Amino acid sequence: WPASTTRTHAGTAVGGVPLAELADRFGTPVYVLDESEVRARCRSYRHTFPDAEVLYAAKAFLCRAMAHWVEEEGLGLDVCSAGELELAVTTGFPPERILLHGNAKSPQDLEAALRLGVGRIVIDSPSEIARIAAAVGPDGRQKVMVRVVPGISAGGHEKIRTGAEGQKFGLSLNDGTAQHAITRVLAQPGLQLVGLHCHLGSQITAVKPYLTAVRRLVGLMARIRKAHGMVLPELDLGGGHGVAYRPGDAALDVSALADRVRAELEQSCAAAGLPVPRLLIEPGRAVVGPAGVALYRVLAVKRTGDRVFVAVDGGMSDNPRPALYGVRYAPLLVGRRSTALPCTADVVGRHCEAGDVLAAGVPLPGDVRPGDLLAVPVAGAYQLSMASGYNLVGRPPVVAVADGRARLLVRRESLDDVRGRDVGL
Ligand code: LLP
Repeated sequence: WPASTTRTHAGTAVGGVPLAELADRFGTPVYVLDESEVRARCRSYRHTFPDAEVLYAAKAFLCRAMAHWVEEEGLGLDVCSAGELELAVTTGFPPERILLHGNAKSPQDLEAALRLGVGRIVIDSPSEIARIAAAVGPDGRQKVMVRVVPGISAGGHEKIRTGAEGQKFGLSLNDGTAQHAITRVLAQPGLQLVGLHCHLGSQITAVKPYLTAVRRLVGLMARIRKAHGMVLPELDLGGGHGVAYRPGDAALDVSALADRVRAELEQSCAAAGLPVPRLLIEPGRAVVGPAGVALYRVLAVKRTGDRVFVAVDGGMSDNPRPALYGVRYAPLLVGRRSTALPCTADVVGRHCEAGDVLAAGVPLPGDVRPGDLLAVPVAGAYQLSMASGYNLVGRPPVVAVADGRARLLVRRESLDDVRGRDVGL
């Protein structure tokens, strides 16, 4: 399984390009993606799950190049909006390898999915069933899955746990809502139910919750066969594979996950007298997170009492994760050597609120000063994809590095871009 190049080498160079050079050429803040590592991670998933369909969860990060790499490496794509879908399709991504999610699919989402011919649509609520069937029309036939809430609590933070009851996604296994919805799906001639889906949550570091999910979903598959005489051919276990943000952090052992899920599937299916369904998985973070690094320039250093505030030129608008989930990062000084004793610093952003802290209480060289460059490793997932327009600072660009060369993938959002949308007065 590939190591995170951004965590092991972010102090110096990524993809053979010195980070200081990238900062000078593209400006800061900037997000840098190691193309070889993204591709290696895609390939590791293919090798580790040779019989499964691996769909990259585009919400973690998507741009045209990313869609192209994922396609070339043989993965499918999980999208949750017409935006993600259309962008991928413009790169030539085969729509039949795309799956559409969403707890509130807009008319535009469904229209694009059906027009472009996505492989599967995942049904998330009872009210969607008739809507999708109507959109498919009397002559169409659309493959669908039903998203089930298996009643399992897993994931790195309350806000990203989706396998338990009491959150907005999916249909409950416990109270029978899922089975009832499945009966209704089967009554729609335009909908072809191909399997069950669940997504337990995100940043999960243990294998066990996935095994419990397999058992519960195979149990539901057995009940469906009993009630409808139908064997569902697919089981989608979603994503959620946790990565280490700092040295020493726990991460999910993806190889162990593959082995133990396979064994559990075989055992549960044998016990239920069912054939083993084709497995689908939807990793996002673990494909792209460790392959990205964010670069910031230090704008101000303030020493007050026993605290050192190191303020950089980005912050919660390009990385809301520390503010949202209390995530801890390990920023590094790059571009110069320092022999100064370390200090404990709060790396803060440039935005107008006290909660705009990128990394609290982290060790940095005591002589850290304005003009220094800081790198935040493992920055490829859910940072830029969740970036906001707060304070109208403009979103950072994305640069790909590979074989000692860098190229711009997404340009910086300029003030003209920001002003261009403002058409009032
Ligand atoms: N499949 C479904 C249906 C999902 O909802 C998600 C993530 C994934 C797959 C991919 O999960 P992953 O392998 O990336 O953990 N913004 C949060 C994470 C939200 C995840 C949303 N759904 C964060 O920054 O931690």
